[in-house]
Amino acid sequence: MAEILIIDDEKAIRKTLTEILSFEGYKMDEASDGEEGLKKFREKTYDLVLCDIKMPKIDGLEFLQKAGETNPDIPIVMISGHGNIETAVEAVKKGAYDFISKPPDLNRLLITIRNAMERNSLVTETKTLKRKVSRVQEMIGGSAPIQKIKDTIDKVAPTDARILITGENGVGKELVARWVHEKSNRVTGPLVEVNCAAIPTELIESELFGHEKGSFTSAIKQRIGKFEQANGGTLFLDEIGDMSLSAQAKVLRALQEGKITRVGADKDISVDVRVIAATNKDLLQEVDAKTFRLDLYHRLSVILIHVPSLNERRDDIPVLVDQFLEDICADYGISKKTMEEEAIRLLQDYDWTGNIRELRNVVERLVILSAKTISPEDVRSYVMPR
Ligand SMILES: Nc1ncnc2c1ncn2[C@@H]1O[C@H](COP(=O)(O)OP(=O)(O)OP(=O)(O)O)[C@@H](O)[C@H]1O
Ligand SMILES: [Mg+2]
Repeated sequence: MAEILIIDDEKAIRKTLTEILSFEGYKMDEASDGEEGLKKFREKTYDLVLCDIKMPKIDGLEFLQKAGETNPDIPIVMISGHGNIETAVEAVKKGAYDFISKPPDLNRLLITIRNAMERNSLVTETKTLKRKVSRVQEMIGGSAPIQKIKDTIDKVAPTDARILITGENGVGKELVARWVHEKSNRVTGPLVEVNCAAIPTELIESELFGHEKGSFTSAIKQRIGKFEQANGGTLFLDEIGDMSLSAQAKVLRALQEGKITRVGADKDISVDVRVIAATNKDLLQEVDAKTFRLDLYHRLSVILIHVPSLNERRDDIPVLVDQFLEDICADYGISKKTMEEEAIRLLQDYDWTGNIRELRNVVERLVILSAKTISPEDVRSYVMPR
Protein backbone atom coordinates (compact mmCIF):
# COMPACT_ATOMS: atom_id res chain seq x y z
CA MET A 1 0.00 0.00 0.00
CA ALA A 2 1.38 3.39 -0.95
CA GLU A 3 2.13 5.60 2.04
CA ILE A 4 1.72 9.37 2.10
CA LEU A 5 3.09 11.83 4.63
CA ILE A 6 1.11 15.03 5.23
CA ILE A 7 2.94 17.94 6.76
CA ASP A 8 0.69 20.84 7.75
CA ASP A 9 0.34 22.91 10.88
CA GLU A 10 -3.43 23.15 10.44
CA LYS A 11 -5.03 20.23 12.16
CA ALA A 12 -8.23 20.52 10.12
CA ILE A 13 -6.34 20.15 6.83
CA ARG A 14 -4.47 17.11 8.07
CA LYS A 15 -7.70 15.55 9.25
CA THR A 16 -9.58 16.14 5.99
CA LEU A 17 -6.76 14.91 3.79
CA THR A 18 -6.17 11.86 5.94
CA GLU A 19 -9.85 10.94 5.77
CA ILE A 20 -10.13 11.39 2.03
CA LEU A 21 -6.90 9.65 1.16
CA SER A 22 -7.38 6.74 3.55
CA PHE A 23 -10.73 6.23 1.92
CA GLU A 24 -8.93 6.09 -1.43
CA GLY A 25 -6.75 3.30 -0.11
CA TYR A 26 -3.57 5.17 0.86
CA LYS A 27 -1.80 4.61 4.14
CA MET A 28 -1.43 7.97 5.88
CA ASP A 29 1.02 9.54 8.28
CA GLU A 30 1.03 13.11 9.66
CA ALA A 31 3.41 15.74 10.95
CA SER A 32 2.40 19.11 12.36
CA ASP A 33 5.41 21.14 11.28
CA GLY A 34 8.42 20.97 8.98
CA GLU A 35 10.79 19.81 11.68
CA GLU A 36 8.69 16.83 12.66
CA GLY A 37 8.02 16.18 8.96
CA LEU A 38 11.71 16.06 8.17
CA LYS A 39 12.39 13.72 11.06
CA LYS A 40 9.75 11.31 9.78
CA PHE A 41 10.91 11.69 6.19
CA ARG A 42 14.42 10.68 7.17
CA GLU A 43 13.28 7.66 9.15
CA LYS A 44 11.08 6.09 6.55
CA THR A 45 10.64 5.91 2.78
CA TYR A 46 7.25 7.34 1.88
CA ASP A 47 5.82 7.16 -1.62
CA LEU A 48 4.76 10.79 -1.60
CA VAL A 49 4.73 13.86 0.65
CA LEU A 50 2.07 16.56 0.81
CA CYS A 51 3.65 19.62 2.35
CA ASP A 52 2.23 22.95 3.46
CA ILE A 53 4.21 26.05 2.56
CA LYS A 54 3.75 28.32 5.57
CA MET A 55 4.63 26.50 8.75
CA PRO A 56 6.48 27.26 11.97
CA LYS A 57 10.09 26.12 12.51
CA ILE A 58 10.95 24.68 9.10
CA ASP A 59 8.76 26.02 6.30
CA GLY A 60 7.77 24.23 3.08
CA LEU A 61 10.63 25.52 0.92
CA GLU A 62 13.22 24.58 3.47
CA PHE A 63 11.65 21.17 3.90
CA LEU A 64 11.71 20.70 0.13
CA GLN A 65 15.39 21.50 -0.01
CA LYS A 66 16.37 19.28 2.91
CA ALA A 67 14.17 16.41 1.75
CA GLY A 68 15.76 16.65 -1.70
CA GLU A 69 19.17 16.28 -0.11
CA THR A 70 18.00 13.20 1.79
CA ASN A 71 16.09 11.47 -0.98
CA PRO A 72 15.47 13.31 -4.27
CA ASP A 73 13.31 10.50 -5.67
CA ILE A 74 10.27 11.02 -3.45
CA PRO A 75 7.71 13.29 -5.12
CA ILE A 76 6.65 16.26 -2.98
CA VAL A 77 3.39 18.09 -3.64
CA MET A 78 3.09 21.49 -2.01
CA ILE A 79 -0.15 22.71 -0.45
CA SER A 80 -0.47 26.43 -0.94
CA GLY A 81 -2.73 28.90 0.81
CA HIS A 82 -4.26 31.96 -0.86
CA GLY A 83 -1.32 34.24 -0.35
CA ASN A 84 1.47 32.03 -1.56
CA ILE A 85 0.83 30.72 -5.08
CA GLU A 86 4.05 32.41 -6.12
CA THR A 87 6.02 30.52 -3.51
CA ALA A 88 4.35 27.35 -4.74
CA VAL A 89 5.51 28.05 -8.28
CA GLU A 90 8.98 28.71 -6.95
CA ALA A 91 8.83 25.38 -5.11
CA VAL A 92 7.95 23.62 -8.34
CA LYS A 93 10.93 25.22 -9.99
CA LYS A 94 13.05 23.97 -7.13
CA GLY A 95 11.94 20.40 -7.60
CA ALA A 96 8.49 19.98 -6.05
CA TYR A 97 6.36 17.75 -8.23
CA ASP A 98 3.38 20.10 -8.27
CA PHE A 99 1.20 22.11 -5.93
CA ILE A 100 -2.44 22.14 -4.96
CA SER A 101 -4.29 25.08 -3.47
CA LYS A 102 -6.22 25.31 -0.23
CA PRO A 103 -8.95 24.30 0.12
CA PRO A 104 -7.93 21.28 -1.93
CA ASP A 105 -10.06 20.34 -4.87
CA LEU A 106 -10.70 16.64 -4.46
CA ASN A 107 -10.36 15.65 -8.10
CA ARG A 108 -7.23 17.62 -8.72
CA LEU A 109 -5.71 16.28 -5.54
CA LEU A 110 -6.29 12.66 -6.50
CA ILE A 111 -5.10 13.14 -10.06
CA THR A 112 -1.96 14.92 -8.92
CA ILE A 113 -1.16 12.19 -6.44
CA ARG A 114 -1.76 9.44 -8.97
CA ASN A 115 0.35 11.18 -11.63
CA ALA A 116 3.18 11.81 -9.20
CA MET A 117 3.33 8.21 -8.12
CA GLU A 118 2.96 6.89 -11.63
CA ARG A 119 5.69 9.12 -12.88
CA ASN A 120 7.97 8.25 -10.04
CA SER A 121 7.89 4.51 -10.63
CA LEU A 122 8.25 5.07 -14.36
CA VAL A 123 11.06 7.56 -14.16
CA THR A 124 13.23 5.03 -12.37
CA GLU A 125 12.31 2.37 -14.88
CA THR A 126 12.86 4.50 -17.96
CA LYS A 127 16.10 5.87 -16.60
CA THR A 128 17.50 2.38 -17.09
CA LEU A 129 15.41 1.35 -20.06
CA LYS A 130 15.78 4.58 -22.03
CA ARG A 131 15.33 3.67 -25.64
CA LYS A 132 18.64 3.66 -27.37
CA VAL A 133 17.41 4.39 -30.84
CA SER A 134 20.28 5.06 -33.14
CA ARG A 135 18.02 6.22 -35.93
CA VAL A 136 18.38 9.88 -36.74
CA GLN A 137 15.61 12.06 -35.32
CA GLU A 138 13.14 13.05 -38.03
CA MET A 139 13.33 16.68 -39.14
CA ILE A 140 9.92 18.02 -38.25
CA GLY A 141 8.30 21.04 -39.83
CA GLY A 142 6.54 21.97 -43.03
CA SER A 143 7.47 25.65 -43.12
CA ALA A 144 9.09 26.96 -46.28
CA PRO A 145 12.60 27.28 -44.80
CA ILE A 146 12.59 23.72 -43.45
CA GLN A 147 11.28 22.41 -46.75
CA LYS A 148 14.06 24.21 -48.53
CA ILE A 149 16.67 22.74 -46.20
CA LYS A 150 15.33 19.23 -46.77
CA ASP A 151 15.49 19.75 -50.54
CA THR A 152 19.05 21.01 -50.28
CA ILE A 153 20.05 18.00 -48.18
CA ASP A 154 18.57 15.64 -50.76
CA LYS A 155 20.53 17.36 -53.51
CA VAL A 156 23.90 17.74 -51.86
CA ALA A 157 24.06 14.67 -49.61
CA PRO A 158 25.17 12.22 -52.34
CA THR A 159 27.97 14.53 -53.47
CA ASP A 160 31.17 15.05 -51.51
CA ALA A 161 30.69 18.82 -51.41
CA ARG A 162 31.69 20.47 -48.15
CA ILE A 163 28.89 22.09 -46.25
CA LEU A 164 28.83 24.96 -43.79
CA ILE A 165 25.77 25.03 -41.57
CA THR A 166 24.96 28.27 -39.77
CA GLY A 167 22.30 29.27 -37.28
CA GLU A 168 21.66 30.20 -33.65
CA ASN A 169 21.98 27.82 -30.70
CA GLY A 170 19.61 24.89 -30.74
CA VAL A 171 18.10 25.42 -34.20
CA GLY A 172 19.06 21.95 -35.43
CA LYS A 173 22.46 22.35 -37.11
CA GLU A 174 23.72 19.03 -35.84
CA LEU A 175 20.53 17.38 -37.03
CA VAL A 176 21.14 18.73 -40.52
CA ALA A 177 24.67 17.34 -40.47
CA ARG A 178 23.39 13.92 -39.40
CA TRP A 179 20.87 13.85 -42.21
CA VAL A 180 23.48 14.79 -44.78
CA HIS A 181 25.56 11.84 -43.63
CA GLU A 182 22.53 9.57 -43.45
CA LYS A 183 21.55 10.32 -47.03
CA SER A 184 25.06 10.25 -48.42
CA ASN A 185 26.95 7.40 -50.05
CA ARG A 186 29.14 7.43 -46.96
CA VAL A 187 26.36 6.25 -44.68
CA THR A 188 28.06 2.90 -44.09
CA GLY A 189 31.20 4.79 -43.04
CA PRO A 190 31.64 6.60 -39.72
CA LEU A 191 30.21 9.97 -38.74
CA VAL A 192 32.76 11.53 -36.42
CA GLU A 193 31.92 14.66 -34.48
CA VAL A 194 34.34 17.17 -33.00
CA ASN A 195 33.17 20.05 -30.87
CA CYS A 196 35.92 22.54 -31.54
CA ALA A 197 34.78 24.84 -28.73
CA ALA A 198 35.17 22.12 -26.13
CA ILE A 199 38.80 21.27 -26.81
CA PRO A 200 41.62 23.40 -25.40
CA THR A 201 43.73 25.08 -28.07
CA GLU A 202 46.86 23.11 -27.18
CA LEU A 203 45.06 19.82 -27.65
CA ILE A 204 43.01 20.44 -30.77
CA GLU A 205 45.79 19.50 -33.16
CA SER A 206 46.36 16.15 -31.55
CA GLU A 207 42.60 15.63 -31.32
CA LEU A 208 42.12 16.24 -35.03
CA PHE A 209 45.28 14.72 -36.46
CA GLY A 210 46.49 12.34 -33.77
CA HIS A 211 50.01 12.09 -32.41
CA GLU A 212 52.93 9.71 -32.17
CA LYS A 213 54.10 8.33 -28.86
CA GLY A 214 56.46 10.73 -27.14
CA SER A 215 55.70 13.70 -29.40
CA PHE A 216 54.95 15.82 -26.34
CA THR A 217 55.12 15.26 -22.60
CA SER A 218 51.68 13.79 -22.07
CA ALA A 219 51.73 11.75 -25.30
CA ILE A 220 52.38 8.41 -23.68
CA LYS A 221 50.65 6.41 -26.38
CA GLN A 222 50.18 6.80 -30.09
CA ARG A 223 46.82 8.30 -30.87
CA ILE A 224 44.63 8.27 -33.97
CA GLY A 225 43.00 11.64 -34.67
CA LYS A 226 39.46 12.42 -35.75
CA PHE A 227 40.40 12.91 -39.41
CA GLU A 228 41.74 9.36 -39.56
CA GLN A 229 38.82 7.98 -37.58
CA ALA A 230 36.44 9.53 -40.09
CA ASN A 231 38.20 7.94 -43.04
CA GLY A 232 35.61 6.77 -45.57
CA GLY A 233 32.92 8.73 -43.76
CA THR A 234 32.01 12.21 -42.60
CA LEU A 235 33.77 14.53 -40.18
CA PHE A 236 31.50 17.04 -38.47
CA LEU A 237 33.42 20.04 -37.17
CA ASP A 238 30.98 21.67 -34.78
CA GLU A 239 31.52 25.23 -33.49
CA ILE A 240 34.22 25.77 -36.08
CA GLY A 241 34.17 29.51 -35.31
CA ASP A 242 35.93 28.72 -32.05
CA MET A 243 38.95 27.05 -33.61
CA SER A 244 42.33 28.69 -33.11
CA LEU A 245 44.15 30.21 -36.10
CA SER A 246 46.95 27.68 -35.91
CA ALA A 247 44.53 24.77 -35.98
CA GLN A 248 42.70 26.47 -38.86
CA ALA A 249 45.92 26.49 -40.87
CA LYS A 250 46.32 22.75 -40.40
CA VAL A 251 42.72 22.00 -41.23
CA LEU A 252 43.09 24.07 -44.37
CA ARG A 253 46.02 21.97 -45.45
CA ALA A 254 44.13 18.75 -44.75
CA LEU A 255 41.28 19.98 -46.92
CA GLN A 256 43.54 21.20 -49.72
CA GLU A 257 45.70 18.13 -49.95
CA GLY A 258 43.55 15.38 -48.48
CA LYS A 259 46.51 14.55 -46.26
CA ILE A 260 47.26 14.91 -42.60
CA THR A 261 50.31 14.49 -40.41
CA ARG A 262 50.11 13.16 -36.88
CA VAL A 263 51.75 15.45 -34.34
CA GLY A 264 55.37 14.33 -34.00
CA ALA A 265 55.33 12.20 -37.15
CA ASP A 266 57.28 12.83 -40.31
CA LYS A 267 55.13 11.14 -42.89
CA ASP A 268 51.77 12.17 -44.33
CA ILE A 269 48.68 10.03 -44.26
CA SER A 270 46.02 10.28 -46.95
CA VAL A 271 42.47 10.54 -45.71
CA ASP A 272 39.17 10.32 -47.56
CA VAL A 273 36.86 12.46 -45.49
CA ARG A 274 33.90 14.64 -46.22
CA VAL A 275 33.85 17.66 -43.95
CA ILE A 276 30.72 19.34 -42.67
CA ALA A 277 31.20 22.34 -40.41
CA ALA A 278 28.76 24.27 -38.24
CA THR A 279 28.83 27.51 -36.33
CA ASN A 280 26.54 29.94 -34.56
CA LYS A 281 28.92 32.77 -35.31
CA ASP A 282 28.93 35.01 -38.35
CA LEU A 283 32.16 33.72 -39.89
CA LEU A 284 32.53 36.61 -42.32
CA GLN A 285 32.48 38.95 -39.36
CA GLU A 286 35.17 36.76 -37.78
CA VAL A 287 37.12 37.05 -41.02
CA ASP A 288 36.90 40.84 -40.76
CA ALA A 289 38.07 40.62 -37.17
CA LYS A 290 40.98 38.45 -38.36
CA THR A 291 39.98 35.56 -36.14
CA PHE A 292 38.91 33.33 -39.01
CA ARG A 293 40.80 32.62 -42.23
CA LEU A 294 39.05 33.66 -45.39
CA ASP A 295 40.64 30.84 -47.43
CA LEU A 296 39.35 28.28 -44.96
CA TYR A 297 35.93 29.89 -45.04
CA HIS A 298 35.80 29.45 -48.81
CA ARG A 299 36.94 25.84 -48.59
CA LEU A 300 34.28 25.00 -46.04
CA SER A 301 31.36 26.86 -47.52
CA VAL A 302 30.96 25.20 -50.90
CA ILE A 303 27.35 24.69 -49.87
CA LEU A 304 25.85 27.00 -47.28
CA ILE A 305 22.87 25.91 -45.25
CA HIS A 306 21.38 28.47 -42.92
CA VAL A 307 18.95 27.12 -40.35
CA PRO A 308 16.54 29.88 -39.32
CA SER A 309 15.63 30.55 -35.69
CA LEU A 310 12.39 29.17 -34.29
CA ASN A 311 10.97 32.70 -34.07
CA GLU A 312 11.23 32.87 -37.87
CA ARG A 313 9.19 29.71 -38.36
CA ARG A 314 6.48 29.75 -35.71
CA ASP A 315 4.19 27.79 -38.04
CA ASP A 316 6.24 24.72 -37.22
CA ILE A 317 5.59 24.99 -33.48
CA PRO A 318 2.31 22.98 -33.41
CA VAL A 319 3.79 19.96 -35.22
CA LEU A 320 6.98 20.15 -33.22
CA VAL A 321 5.02 20.27 -29.95
CA ASP A 322 2.93 17.31 -31.04
CA GLN A 323 5.99 15.26 -31.89
CA PHE A 324 7.76 16.18 -28.67
CA LEU A 325 4.66 15.31 -26.61
CA GLU A 326 4.67 11.91 -28.24
CA ASP A 327 8.40 11.29 -27.81
CA ILE A 328 8.62 12.56 -24.25
CA CYS A 329 5.53 10.72 -23.01
CA ALA A 330 6.88 7.55 -24.63
CA ASP A 331 10.19 8.11 -22.88
CA TYR A 332 8.43 8.41 -19.54
CA GLY A 333 6.27 5.42 -20.37
CA ILE A 334 2.98 7.30 -19.92
CA SER A 335 0.15 7.73 -22.40
CA LYS A 336 0.43 10.77 -24.63
CA LYS A 337 -0.67 14.04 -23.07
CA THR A 338 -2.38 16.70 -25.17
CA MET A 339 -2.16 20.46 -25.26
CA GLU A 340 -5.07 22.85 -25.59
CA GLU A 341 -5.01 25.02 -28.70
CA GLU A 342 -4.80 28.20 -26.67
CA ALA A 343 -1.76 26.80 -24.87
CA ILE A 344 -0.07 26.07 -28.19
CA ARG A 345 -0.88 29.59 -29.32
CA LEU A 346 0.87 30.96 -26.24
CA LEU A 347 3.94 28.94 -27.18
CA GLN A 348 3.73 30.35 -30.69
CA ASP A 349 3.77 33.88 -29.30
CA TYR A 350 6.67 33.19 -26.97
CA ASP A 351 10.08 34.69 -27.70
CA TRP A 352 12.37 31.66 -28.14
CA THR A 353 16.02 32.31 -27.43
CA GLY A 354 17.14 28.67 -27.20
CA ASN A 355 15.15 27.63 -30.27
CA ILE A 356 14.11 24.00 -30.77
CA ARG A 357 16.18 22.74 -27.89
CA GLU A 358 14.40 25.19 -25.58
CA LEU A 359 11.01 24.22 -27.01
CA ARG A 360 11.72 20.56 -26.35
CA ASN A 361 12.76 21.30 -22.77
CA VAL A 362 9.64 23.39 -22.22
CA VAL A 363 7.40 20.61 -23.52
CA GLU A 364 9.17 18.16 -21.23
CA ARG A 365 8.63 20.46 -18.27
CA LEU A 366 4.94 20.79 -19.14
CA VAL A 367 4.56 17.03 -19.50
CA ILE A 368 6.03 16.53 -16.05
CA LEU A 369 4.13 19.29 -14.28
CA SER A 370 0.72 19.30 -15.93
CA ALA A 371 -2.25 16.98 -15.90
CA LYS A 372 -3.33 14.92 -18.91
CA THR A 373 -4.33 18.01 -20.85
CA ILE A 374 -1.89 20.89 -20.81
CA SER A 375 -3.79 24.15 -20.36
CA PRO A 376 -2.95 27.81 -21.09
CA GLU A 377 -2.66 28.29 -17.30
CA ASP A 378 0.02 25.62 -17.18
CA VAL A 379 1.95 27.46 -19.88
CA ARG A 380 1.52 30.75 -18.07
CA SER A 381 2.74 29.44 -14.75
CA TYR A 382 5.46 27.04 -15.83
CA VAL A 383 6.82 28.69 -18.95
CA MET A 384 6.34 32.39 -18.40
CA PRO A 385 6.23 32.88 -14.66
CA ARG A 386 8.04 36.18 -14.65
N1 LIG B 1 13.32 20.13 -37.24
C1 LIG B 1 13.45 19.45 -36.09
N2 LIG B 1 12.58 18.49 -35.77
C2 LIG B 1 12.71 17.81 -34.60
N3 LIG B 1 13.67 18.00 -33.72
C3 LIG B 1 14.57 18.94 -33.98
C4 LIG B 1 14.53 19.71 -35.18
N4 LIG B 1 15.56 20.56 -35.17
C5 LIG B 1 16.23 20.34 -34.02
N5 LIG B 1 15.65 19.36 -33.32
C6 LIG B 1 16.09 18.89 -31.99
O1 LIG B 1 16.47 20.02 -31.22
C7 LIG B 1 17.64 19.78 -30.45
C8 LIG B 1 18.72 20.76 -30.83
O2 LIG B 1 19.18 20.51 -32.15
P1 LIG B 1 20.73 20.51 -32.56
O3 LIG B 1 21.56 19.90 -31.48
O4 LIG B 1 20.83 19.92 -33.91
O5 LIG B 1 20.95 22.07 -32.60
P2 LIG B 1 22.28 22.90 -32.90
O6 LIG B 1 21.90 23.94 -33.86
O7 LIG B 1 23.39 21.96 -33.23
O8 LIG B 1 22.51 23.57 -31.50
P3 LIG B 1 23.90 24.20 -30.88
O9 LIG B 1 24.23 25.40 -31.66
O10 LIG B 1 23.46 24.54 -29.49
O11 LIG B 1 24.91 23.12 -30.95
C9 LIG B 1 18.00 18.33 -30.74
O12 LIG B 1 17.44 17.52 -29.73
C10 LIG B 1 17.35 18.05 -32.07
O13 LIG B 1 17.06 16.68 -32.24
MG1 LIG C 1 25.20 21.60 -32.16
